[in-house]
Amino acid sequence: MLESFNHITKVKGELNLPGDKSISHRSIFFSAMADGKSVIKNLSDGEDVLSTIKSFSDLGCEIKKEKNEVIIRGKGFKNFNKPQKSLNCGNSGTTARLITGLLSAQNFESTLTGDESLSKRPMERVIIPLKQMGAKFESENNCLPLKVIPNNKLHPINYKLPIPSAQVKSSIILAGLHCEGITSIVEKTPSRNHTEKMLGLEVKKSKSGNTILVSKKNYPIPAEYFIPSDVSSAAFFIVLSILTKDSSLRIKNVSLNETRKGYLKILNEMGAKINFENISVSSGEVFGDVIVESSKLKNVEIPEEIIPNIIDEIPILSVVGLFAEGNFSIKSANELRKKESDRINSLCYNYKLLGLDVDELEDGFTISGKIKNKKVVFESFDDHRIAMTFGILSLLLIDGGKVNNFG
Ligand code: S3P
Repeated sequence: MLESFNHITKVKGELNLPGDKSISHRSIFFSAMADGKSVIKNLSDGEDVLSTIKSFSDLGCEIKKEKNEVIIRGKGFKNFNKPQKSLNCGNSGTTARLITGLLSAQNFESTLTGDESLSKRPMERVIIPLKQMGAKFESENNCLPLKVIPNNKLHPINYKLPIPSAQVKSSIILAGLHCEGITSIVEKTPSRNHTEKMLGLEVKKSKSGNTILVSKKNYPIPAEYFIPSDVSSAAFFIVLSILTKDSSLRIKNVSLNETRKGYLKILNEMGAKINFENISVSSGEVFGDVIVESSKLKNVEIPEEIIPNIIDEIPILSVVGLFAEGNFSIKSANELRKKESDRINSLCYNYKLLGLDVDELEDGFTISGKIKNKKVVFESFDDHRIAMTFGILSLLLIDGGKVNNFG
């Protein structure tokens, strides 16, 4: 447990955050696919979501912003225009994985590209099931650039997900929306379920996991979406408030989907004071205000089955672990190595800069010991969640810290 905090004195007030990234992507996909006008309120304006918007403009959708609303005129079933050039997914894994499923069912070939980081991330996880459905692909090492050779008559599959991944699941769902017959996807450990909720899919729950059923009847129709605030972005401010003395913060209209709020459960078990108020539902998604206060914490064991639920918050949870009684340890989180950077390595590298004892494992890491080095310059590895994590840690350390390529 670290004694050396705090660079800032107090966090107090109320915060509104941009729309949830995962729900934002999906609202654009479903609006673009629907036949007619959809309206999206509080859409994230982050770069990843802009990559999705740009891709659908290149596919012929009319997308315009009016005040706090984005209006999309969708093209309807298999009616997208063949893009004039390759579709650039930028840094966004969600854009790349989801759009591959959708493009597999169109009437034209297309090519996906991405930035340096995305071009190294695995696409095989979507290529394997989509090939089973009848699509073909050309790429080097199953990475971007990826040529999608669609199949006008994709056929349904029964697919057991080898890794818990909402991106893979959603990619198959998007292809399944174009098939005659029912596609079923089995996931042993549930991952985020926005696609299922927003499309109103049937999900059968059993001891061996969830079975998701999708067919043409679930194809999206024009709708109005309200995007709640991003619960993963909220995590950084929640942690800052909990770890700062005499603090209290209300974050308004935060997404509280049960497959996303695992980190709030863990924080609560660690002793954090967290309350929820003004709970509502929109487009199948629950949201509400989150109120947090400074709290004294102890480390707890993080169970394997919660990992997919907290995958994006593990970096900032490890900061909480530093200030809590006992040592922080995470296991069964191999997927962290496949994100915008190898997040296990990025976290361990930065904690070692502080002089902490770090044990890096293939599927996680453990941190113990005391901070020996002051005024550290952390590395962002061009990864937004790593940059934010060490930005927050820099605010918490009594001597501060800096993050390379941050802000
Ligand atoms: C996302 C799913 C997760 C998550 C990513 C967004 C989504 O990835 O890490 O930030 O919107 O579907 P995986 O599905 O690959 O675990």
